[in-house]
Amino acid sequence: MNESEAKRRYDAACAIGREAGELARRMFEAREANTFVMKGHQDYLTEADGAVERLITGRINELFPDDFVLGEEGGGAIGENTWIIDPIDGTANFARGIPHFCVSIGFVSGGIRTAGIIANPMADEFYAARRGGGATLNGKPMKISGITDIRQSTVELGWSSRLPMSDYIAMVQRVTDTGAGFLRRGSGALALADVAAGRIDGYAELHINSWDIAAGLLLVEEAGGWGNDFFAGEGMTRGNPVLACVPALRAVLSKTTDIA
Ligand code: IPD
Repeated sequence: MNESEAKRRYDAACAIGREAGELARRMFEAREANTFVMKGHQDYLTEADGAVERLITGRINELFPDDFVLGEEGGGAIGENTWIIDPIDGTANFARGIPHFCVSIGFVSGGIRTAGIIANPMADEFYAARRGGGATLNGKPMKISGITDIRQSTVELGWSSRLPMSDYIAMVQRVTDTGAGFLRRGSGALALADVAAGRIDGYAELHINSWDIAAGLLLVEEAGGWGNDFFAGEGMTRGNPVLACVPALRAVLSKTTDIA
């Protein structure tokens, strides 16, 4: 895809992301307790997931009718130019009234992450990245942390009910045995944004879906970090393990998470 077409997608992602973040914020503030339903074990669904995704998909279809859209709730298809959307990442937090969630929109062209935005409306933080154009937080350039000693690092380790708890606990044990501190806050996209912003030093999860990471991995890469080859195999449609971190910690985190 040429530069001007890529820039059009980036500008659209920013505009749509801001509008979608605003809708998510309004719905969060207006939500009533316990209005969620469960899609599966520890897998929440709120009215906002559907409403925000419909808004984003509608806008993309109007502007780029030939592009493909893959969303967490509505599904879709992938092709040469694909938008990968998570309307609310951190749905469990949203559902229970915890203001740690975001809207994530990634655009992938020819298998390459090309543009991505993450809107965290409750913190008034807007992250954006364009391949080769750097990553920003509220318009200011972002850079990964300068941490090189694993004993000084903080790593977020994501969990879902898609894999056995014992696999997760074993990974937490191996990573923390190195001296790293760890978090688990329930939004993979925001964890990746925090790696890009230099607030934490790595994020790993043994299985995650492409809509959770499509924007965040580009943020990390454009802020100077390293991310694994997530779209390998059927990563885009079926998910894969994810590891993103400061390059200095790649070897130790690859070994202890078993994600290369
Ligand atoms: C989940 C979050 C969570 C991650 C899970 C995801 P959702 O996405 O990103 O942090 O650990 O793997 O499924 O359901 O909140 O969109």
